Amino acid sequence: MSEGAVSADPGAESLSRAAIARVDSSDQLSDVLTLPEHLRDALWRVESAIMQHWDTTAGLVVAGMGGSAIAGALARAALGDHATRPIFVTRAYGLPTWTTPDTTVLCASYSGNTEETLACYESAGALGARRTVVTTGGRLAEMARADGIPVIPLPGGFQPRAAVAYMIVAALEVAALSGAGPRLTSEIDVAASHTEQLVAEWGPDAAEDSLAKQLARSLHGTTPVIAGAGLTTPIAYRWKTQINENAKQPAFFNELPELDHNELAGWEGAQDVGRFAAVFLDDSDAHPRVKARMALTERAIAGSAASSFRLETRGQTSIERVISLVLLGDLVSIYLAALRGVDPGPVNAIDELKEQLAKR
Ligand code: F6R
Repeated sequence: MSEGAVSADPGAESLSRAAIARVDSSDQLSDVLTLPEHLRDALWRVESAIMQHWDTTAGLVVAGMGGSAIAGALARAALGDHATRPIFVTRAYGLPTWTTPDTTVLCASYSGNTEETLACYESAGALGARRTVVTTGGRLAEMARADGIPVIPLPGGFQPRAAVAYMIVAALEVAALSGAGPRLTSEIDVAASHTEQLVAEWGPDAAEDSLAKQLARSLHGTTPVIAGAGLTTPIAYRWKTQINENAKQPAFFNELPELDHNELAGWEGAQDVGRFAAVFLDDSDAHPRVKARMALTERAIAGSAASSFRLETRGQTSIERVISLVLLGDLVSIYLAALRGVDPGPVNAIDELKEQLAKR
């Protein structure tokens, strides 16, 4: 089913604010709905932390994990062809071997205590790279302050993944300040207003047959497989991880055109092993052959998928388009949590693993 074909089920369970609040003990919903304010506040925070420009000709490395790392990939997608230096995202204990004193390394960790990111901070120092930090505090802020490294301060009290808009703006602004891309400050401000309209259209106060609510109902009871291409590839990964962390269920992602060369064959046996739903994230500016592939791939798997959707980014600028589908995926993941009766906030499995590792 493509976006236009979504239809309301009159007997469907309500996804009102009150229904969501019954499971959402830490009000993750409000953190998604205030995404436009996060964009604006983030601009101000970067400006107050870093005043001067520099130019690192070897490019920008964003080092982080999970909800902090994804922002680097989303920022790179938003810059697209306008990036003037390589932009690389590392989710590991170390930096790429080509990191030099002529590379900017942005260490992004909401908590400031993620061991992989702390290791990258240290390697960046050892390699003499130009460091910048974005965090709420933790060990990362302590080390950066002791070393005289600029810290972009984030507000506390969020789940790291809910601070994604702050992190995207920080990565975009550091890309601009370090010579890796153009300044998108006014585009970000305009994108905030555009996102406000989408919040009204897809948020909990919208009708029960809004796109976001219908999508969540169709994905409920399935294993969602999200596909992106180009600009939407990191958004597809964001959908997968938000469904994992908010709705506490498996979800997977892939990208076109690659999936047409392998995953497509696997769909043949999908119904033998479970109920899988496909979501294709399209973009108005996608390569025409990729668009053709998305349409043909959706058709090819139609008989095997529990449901399938093709959704397109909304907006003019690339930042508006990126944020539009990030917002939709975040809302869908919260609605899915409500339909499953699980609390979207806590991620006990992740916290417990971090605790076990800390004891070793
Ligand atoms: C939790 C979340 C995680 C964290 C990750 C890294 O909401 O999204 O993916 O982002 O464990 O932690 P931070 O962001 O604190 O460095």
